[in-house]
Amino acid sequence: MTDSSKVLDIVGHIGEAISENAQFLTDLDAAIGDNDHGVNMARGFKKVEEDLPGLKDKDMGAIFKKVGMDIVSAVGGSSGPLYGTAFMKAGAAVAGKMEIDLNDFLKIMDEAISGVQLRGKAEKGEKTMLDAMMPARDAMREAAEAGKGIKEVLDAGVKAAEDGVEYTKTIIATKGRASYLGERSIGHQDPGATSFMVMLKAVADKYEE
Ligand SMILES: Nc1ncnc2c1ncn2[C@@H]1O[C@H](COP(=O)(O)OP(=O)(O)OP(=O)(O)O)[C@@H](O)[C@H]1O
Ligand SMILES: [Mg+2]
Repeated sequence: MTDSSKVLDIVGHIGEAISENAQFLTDLDAAIGDNDHGVNMARGFKKVEEDLPGLKDKDMGAIFKKVGMDIVSAVGGSSGPLYGTAFMKAGAAVAGKMEIDLNDFLKIMDEAISGVQLRGKAEKGEKTMLDAMMPARDAMREAAEAGKGIKEVLDAGVKAAEDGVEYTKTIIATKGRASYLGERSIGHQDPGATSFMVMLKAVADKYEE
């Protein structure tokens, strides 16, 4: 079971990881987009960080909803509404809970993916954040069903997200600005898939402390 103070710690650590990787993520977006993904994400998580103290003792739904709203309002671009909806939808699934378990976490991943798909209308294989999110979710569910504990589940998710990021190098972008490049997008990893991998890795790192 993970309580709200641990979740707030983890969210804070996601923000640190995003800000450490902001230049890297922006450079990835410079290659196939408009040079702003890391800057956008870091701005969003700066706002989240400011709001974390006010979320102490709130239930999981309220925490995720606030994070999502901050991301929508401060990130902008495509990734703001996409990640923002992901967090808000995840929050609705755990509304009222003061603790979450592994099953809740898998539910959060399902809802996050369905939020991204609701907004972005993308499928797997279009060189987006979904190419890290969906394999990570599948690997985590599989590990959980095999009876693994949260740490091993998260490690399996991180590994699958990393593989998903590698996979985005091999495919053509068909969504967002990167799609304007057509075949020239091959060879470049997707910034959004990479930012998801960075976030999930931050969750795993903090969890394992
Ligand atoms: N329809 C979509 N569904 C899922 N993810 C998407 C979609 N469109 C873009 N993305 C993700 O958003 C990332 C780019 O986010 P960024 O913060 O740079 O916003 P942006 O500059 O407005 O993006 P874009 O030009 O791709 O629409 C991409 O790398 C991709 O992972
Ligand atoms: Mg961009």
